[in-house]
Amino acid sequence: MIIPLSLVLLAADLFISRACGCHDLYEPYAQDSLHQPFGRFMKNPSHDAVFENIADTDQSIAQHRLSLETTKDVDAALEPEVPPPPLDVVPLIISGPSTNRVDFVFFSDGYLPEERAKFLSDALRLAEDVSKNQTFNTVQPLLNFWAAFSPSRESGIGVGGLPKDTPFGLFRYGTELRGVYYAHPEVGKAACDSLGTQCDYPILLGNDPLYGGLGGDFTVITASTLNGALVLRHELGHSILEVGEEYDGGFGYYGANAAHDLKIIPWRQWLSDATRVDTSGAPRVERSVMAMQAYPWTLLNATDPWSIKFESSGTYSRYSVQFSLSGIPNKKDLRVTLDGDELGWLPREKIGMDRWFYNFHSPKKLAAGKHVLSFNLLNGKKEGAAQLCSTEVLEYGTEDEFISTPGFYSLYPTFSDLNQTSYRPTNEDCLMRSVTVPNLCKVCLETLWINLLKDLDFVDNIKESCKQNHASTLKVLELDLLPVADLRKIPIAHKETYTITWEKDGRPLSQFTNKTRAEIEDDQSLGEYTIHVKFSTEEVRLESPSLQGDWHHKVTALCQGS
Ligand SMILES: *[C@@H]1O[C@H](CO)[C@@H](O)[C@H](O)[C@H]1NC(C)=O
Ligand SMILES: *[C@@H]1O[C@H](CO)[C@@H](O)[C@H](O)[C@H]1NC(C)=O
Ligand SMILES: *[C@@H]1O[C@H](CO)[C@@H](O)[C@H](O)[C@H]1NC(C)=O
Ligand SMILES: *[C@@H]1O[C@H](CO)[C@@H](O)[C@H](O)[C@H]1NC(C)=O
Repeated sequence: MIIPLSLVLLAADLFISRACGCHDLYEPYAQDSLHQPFGRFMKNPSHDAVFENIADTDQSIAQHRLSLETTKDVDAALEPEVPPPPLDVVPLIISGPSTNRVDFVFFSDGYLPEERAKFLSDALRLAEDVSKNQTFNTVQPLLNFWAAFSPSRESGIGVGGLPKDTPFGLFRYGTELRGVYYAHPEVGKAACDSLGTQCDYPILLGNDPLYGGLGGDFTVITASTLNGALVLRHELGHSILEVGEEYDGGFGYYGANAAHDLKIIPWRQWLSDATRVDTSGAPRVERSVMAMQAYPWTLLNATDPWSIKFESSGTYSRYSVQFSLSGIPNKKDLRVTLDGDELGWLPREKIGMDRWFYNFHSPKKLAAGKHVLSFNLLNGKKEGAAQLCSTEVLEYGTEDEFISTPGFYSLYPTFSDLNQTSYRPTNEDCLMRSVTVPNLCKVCLETLWINLLKDLDFVDNIKESCKQNHASTLKVLELDLLPVADLRKIPIAHKETYTITWEKDGRPLSQFTNKTRAEIEDDQSLGEYTIHVKFSTEEVRLESPSLQGDWHHKVTALCQGS
């Protein structure tokens, strides 16, 4: 299948729209309308999740990107004619022909010729993580994963804004664990284009052990054991589902998992309790508030703690403190306190210098008035690496006012960087909100099915053959269907069905209903067949044309001449 690759520069620029504070210049595609001005190029607009808000404070990224944007002519940049790098394409997880599957290709960057095996094992680990038992597991029969190896002359990815000698030129600005950018998008485009239908979603995999990545036309990830799959899932979520964020402090909230108007709830079909309405009959919003939210991206030092003050109204019952850190491997390296009381932070097991996300829930209320959250680096040897990336304090009503139970679908407020409210379907069930969660919520899964199936046929192929049955000869028509429902090789827990109906020259052949094989008397077999296939799964509740289709086949010759 081919999804046109769109222009990467624009994708990358989405960051900057916020980063440089130049809202006027970029407003047209900084918000929900971001498809419009460049819709033709931007099949998969970038809403890089884990990194985008972050660029807010980084003027160097902003300035760099800004100069790219202002100096390059968009149409000229669209046609970069360079040869693809040498590609050694290896199948990882294959479910069927590329012409009728959605194909993900990992491209190598920063792997020396002798690191080919490492690349293949990194790519396989990531492909399995997102499809074997979680995330895209149920749609796996619609997907293929490939690894395309191109050797690099240098190992690893660049730092300080300087790419190494690698095919796609992946690099970080500075050394901090944040965005990973590419210097040679034209090579990426040429590489993907050269694979034709075998490349729908190109993934540039950097040979680096730590957190980093980028969303957009190319999904950029690293080989980080803890974070590679986390970034991959989230960025593919943006690209395939065409949804924005669910976490707080971002700026793009749109698509199937975002509501801006209580009268228009895209996930009405998933609401857990339709009777949960307020006195006016309007759906009830789960009661919470964002008391504090920041993306400091600051290096910590052992001289002075990094602190942030915030206020509480004192009217909520519970709260949580969330933050993400990198470069702090040990418990004794850092003390995190709220109003002087230690939170009891423990580094994630085996985190080393990599980034991780921490979430402390308290069943107590925050008192009305001022509070202070402090990050106190205790180990001076970690200066220069120890970093506080993001932090947030949320307050919640009682369990009756704010249902925190996993699996509850309702209206949960999400707060943007400007503290504007939109709504999401679950509290913390979705990897689009909480990047450490490995699964999509049901609303996103439904959209995943619909979007993947949009460009696929249920019928891979129809085989025509002949069969002798006693005195008569039979024409045999046999369907190869997408291997879902009862054709799955690995069964799944929930129910799926195929409904198949056959017609010949407009007349139903009801004896073959729900059969993938039809046997017809040879002398009556000439004609035009229409096979209607409808798929249903418990994971899709919306009616969607993506879930059914007609397949036409003409029998033009008899088995036994005539
Ligand atoms: C899926 O497998 C991974 C790695 O083997 C494991 O960490 C994860 O917990 C598993 N998830 C589920 C839902 O079983
Ligand atoms: C967001 O707005 C609410 C009121 O609507 C306020 O209580 C809260 O403190 C604000 N949060 C931030 C981080 O500004
Ligand atoms: C240490 O960090 C604090 C908080 O970010 C900052 O105000 C201070 O300038 C830093 N001190 C040094 C010596 O870098
Ligand atoms: C065909 O399969 C569908 C889905 O399982 C079922 O609802 C329908 O009754 C079946 N029809 C026949 C004739 O078996």
